[in-house]
Amino acid sequence: MRYFVTGVAGQLGHDVMNELAKRGIEGVGTDLKDVYSGVMDGTPVTTMPYVGMDITDAEAVERTIRAANVDGVIHCAAWTAVDKAEELPELVHKINAVGTENIAKVCEELDIPMMYFSTDYVFNGNGTRPWEPDDAYEPLGVYGKTKAEGEVAVKEHVKKFFILRIAWVFGVNGKNFIKTMLNLAKTHDHLRVVNDQIGTPTYTYDLARLVVDMIGTDKYGIYHVTNEGDYISWYDFAKAIFETAGVTNMTVDPVSSEEYGAAAKRPYNSRMNRSKIVENGFTPLPDWRDALARYVAILKENEENA
Ligand SMILES: NC(=O)c1ccc[n+]([C@@H]2O[C@H](COP(=O)([O-])OP(=O)(O)OC[C@H]3O[C@@H](n4cnc5c(N)ncnc54)[C@H](OP(=O)(O)O)[C@@H]3O)[C@@H](O)[C@H]2O)c1
Repeated sequence: MRYFVTGVAGQLGHDVMNELAKRGIEGVGTDLKDVYSGVMDGTPVTTMPYVGMDITDAEAVERTIRAANVDGVIHCAAWTAVDKAEELPELVHKINAVGTENIAKVCEELDIPMMYFSTDYVFNGNGTRPWEPDDAYEPLGVYGKTKAEGEVAVKEHVKKFFILRIAWVFGVNGKNFIKTMLNLAKTHDHLRVVNDQIGTPTYTYDLARLVVDMIGTDKYGIYHVTNEGDYISWYDFAKAIFETAGVTNMTVDPVSSEEYGAAAKRPYNSRMNRSKIVENGFTPLPDWRDALARYVAILKENEENA
């Protein structure tokens, strides 16, 4: 088997390539850069084929995916800067909606499966009930709207589609909340973190295992995937991060989203019902506390080796 993976210079794409390599499955990686020499747990990405491609260029997408001669596409590339998206709606639409549609059309022409990653931000965040895969879209901002448009394109064009809605993502290869908290701890002893947005985090290393388990099956459809464990707020998560990393000189104050005042509106309720994973015979991701401990240990190891 051979899979085409977009966004390999980002958090999830990096870990998916690594997981494929670990299982002896070939991956063809792509991202915006013409040449990519990132490393995956000490292994250069270039041990697997890499080709630069802009997903918004329909002709390049068609030519590149056809030439890659693959059994499926795992589409991890996206615009993910949620606040900045509010300033650049056309560009974000082009990447998250049109770019995804470009890939979807080629997958259908080739009759191969496509896996797309979406987000809890496609929902309005009302209530406390965990979101079901078939709940209606009502995004609050540009990022969520364009990710929902990407979902629609995938469903419209591809018969063999997987849509995995994930949330609060962290991985070794990129920016995320955990890295931000630990960097802030180097210069601050007091932080304000929102406590009215509730969800669960997703570790890309754990998710990559499920992705590779799933892509070779015909259990197509929409799934909600995060690490297991209790639903928490960002405030709870920040406290757990400092505790896990042994940061003792930090005070964290809970604040409301309104008090915090981010540029983009975010859903209050990001609880997602993950039960379809097990119902379809897949192994769920480990508890987020376990994921956090492993992740913090890797960050420390990488820092010591730097
Ligand atoms: N991060 C989260 O918290 C989160 C939450 C829910 C869902 N998701 C979804 O999960 C998936 C993976 O997220 P992630 O955190 O791994 O993303 P990421 O780290 O931001 O990586 C995305 C990659 O896509 C690349 N890219 C952007 N525009 C492109 C284009 N036009 N053509 C080709 N590549 C392009 C980016 O390059 P540049 O960096 O150079 O732009 C980056 O390397 C995405 O679909 C995202 O929407 C993420």
